[in-house]
Amino acid sequence: MCGIVGYIGPRDATPIILNGLKRLEYRGYDSAGLAVLQNSHIEVRRDVGKLARLATLVEGSPVSGQVGIGHTRWATHGEPSARNAHPHLGMTGEVVVVHNGIVENFLELREELSAEGAVFNSDTDTEVIVHLVERYLSGGKSLAEAARKAFAHLKGAHGIVLLSSREPDKIVAARIGNAGGVVVGLGEGEMFVASDMPAILEHTRRVVFLESRQMAVITRDGLALQGLDGRHLEYQVHQVSWDPIAAEKGAYRHFMQKEIHEQVRSLTDTIAGRVDFEKGRVRLPELNLTPDVAQGIEKIFITACGTAAHAGMVGKVLIERIARIPVEVDIASEFRYRDPIVDEGAVVLAISQSGETADTLAAMEEGRRKGARLWSIINVIGSQAMRIADGYISMQTGPEIGVASTKAYTAPLVDLYMLAILLGELRGVLDNKTRHRLVNDLRLVPDLAGQCLDREPQVEAVARALVHTKHCIYLGRGINMPTAYEGALKLKEISYVHAEGYPAGEMKHGPIALVDREMPVVVIAPRDPWYEKMFSQIEQARARGGTVIALATDGDEQAASVADHVLWLPETPWMLSPVTAVIPLQLLAYHIASLRGLDVDQPRNLAKSVTVE
Ligand code: M6R
Repeated sequence: MCGIVGYIGPRDATPIILNGLKRLEYRGYDSAGLAVLQNSHIEVRRDVGKLARLATLVEGSPVSGQVGIGHTRWATHGEPSARNAHPHLGMTGEVVVVHNGIVENFLELREELSAEGAVFNSDTDTEVIVHLVERYLSGGKSLAEAARKAFAHLKGAHGIVLLSSREPDKIVAARIGNAGGVVVGLGEGEMFVASDMPAILEHTRRVVFLESRQMAVITRDGLALQGLDGRHLEYQVHQVSWDPIAAEKGAYRHFMQKEIHEQVRSLTDTIAGRVDFEKGRVRLPELNLTPDVAQGIEKIFITACGTAAHAGMVGKVLIERIARIPVEVDIASEFRYRDPIVDEGAVVLAISQSGETADTLAAMEEGRRKGARLWSIINVIGSQAMRIADGYISMQTGPEIGVASTKAYTAPLVDLYMLAILLGELRGVLDNKTRHRLVNDLRLVPDLAGQCLDREPQVEAVARALVHTKHCIYLGRGINMPTAYEGALKLKEISYVHAEGYPAGEMKHGPIALVDREMPVVVIAPRDPWYEKMFSQIEQARARGGTVIALATDGDEQAASVADHVLWLPETPWMLSPVTAVIPLQLLAYHIASLRGLDVDQPRNLAKSVTVE
């Protein structure tokens, strides 16, 4: 997962950058590089593979200077290779950039810039940024102004750091949306910048966190903060704890909150290296999925526990719709005891953040015993669920510390979507046009997640209204029925409020008897193919006096007119709507628990990894 480090000061930037990148290695990456201003000239060293290769490259061809930036890359656009590794140098050789995120409109921008004469030396989306900056520099703008004008063209969420030999005494860093953080470290006569704090903690504990749409112009003596609209901004310096775990929490109160906010980045990383937007193709190499294997699959059994099982329920809708393969979802603790009809034509697909959940592993063993092919979607590389599988997909979310699973829920939703596309293509049931459209929709996901996060204050206000509630019902339908289960699970596990997720259509068969003024009903009603049906649920709950909290798509006046509270969602392609719909529910549970003063990260009676039956 991409990492950024930058340095400006009296020392040699190269070892500082290499060490900083080393501290971000745990996030995973497939190539690395650095750029250093040496004698007024930008020198770039980059290579595919691990940092050790970059270090060897630098040893063979040394570079040193007092300003530099570095990057570890997890490929999104273009294969992992030296030419696609960051930093990316512009045509003049005067500007160099590193970047986390996805430039959603890069194809349009590349066309526009090529028409102006820009020559592209990589397959990355990032390269458009450097060409844009050069466009404005050549028009006579200062580096900061040129960068700001360039950033205005970018769609999506980004962390960007750049420098130029034209103005060698500065680094420009910006955060747009929530593609991970950008943190500036303050030293004595030297400054640091990074995507993650571990990269700079050995040098300083005084840091400034950039908010979305902020840009810092960093010199060795300090920083000037401005909005992307050019307004000068004040900043607050945070003193970070010496405890490395606490330090990792950054500006967030709890890991859960941090992990909810990390989803733009984790979703970017989930897509990274797996999608070719131009060809409209998905690659999942660790799954070892050949056309023969894909065509031979008769049925898929998804098995998992808790949150992971809810992801599996969404996966069922996706795989059945896109790849036309029958899918059953089994709670792992039930699977092996019901003597399931599984044979060589079946795949048992386990989903597990930890990869060590005892019930999930036992379900996999049951699948193996009966001759099924075993796949897993895991977060922890090297875990047992990864090792015993015939193929796996890694979630690429980075460590999840909060007991309540958040980013390890949305990542497998996207993994399952990609898996469905790949299976659909290999089985020949997905036409070219549809495949391109489905793949293209993936580009929108990180930014849509960021838009949900930007609405946290509205969710917090609803949490305040519900803070003393004792019960809550969540209703969903179709692809968002599991969203109701997941929303309810989040609330119950961290706030100890009794919450039930229910298929909306089942309400009238019993649970509606519970609805009265004391019963909040969360109705998940984005504009998906089940919207009309969900809308009638809002009215039914309302008619019985329940407090209705509607999760509705921006502009849905109809929902707003009947609900007591609305949690607004950005318009999202319906097959990806479970990714956005769950984010306000994660935030709602988080804020209710936090307002109640509970131990959000370690709720009572729960463990992060359940290794007993
Ligand atoms: O590590 P796993 O994904 O296999 O864990 C499965 C469940 O224990 C886990 O999702 C649990 O339900 C979480 N506490 C939910 O937030």
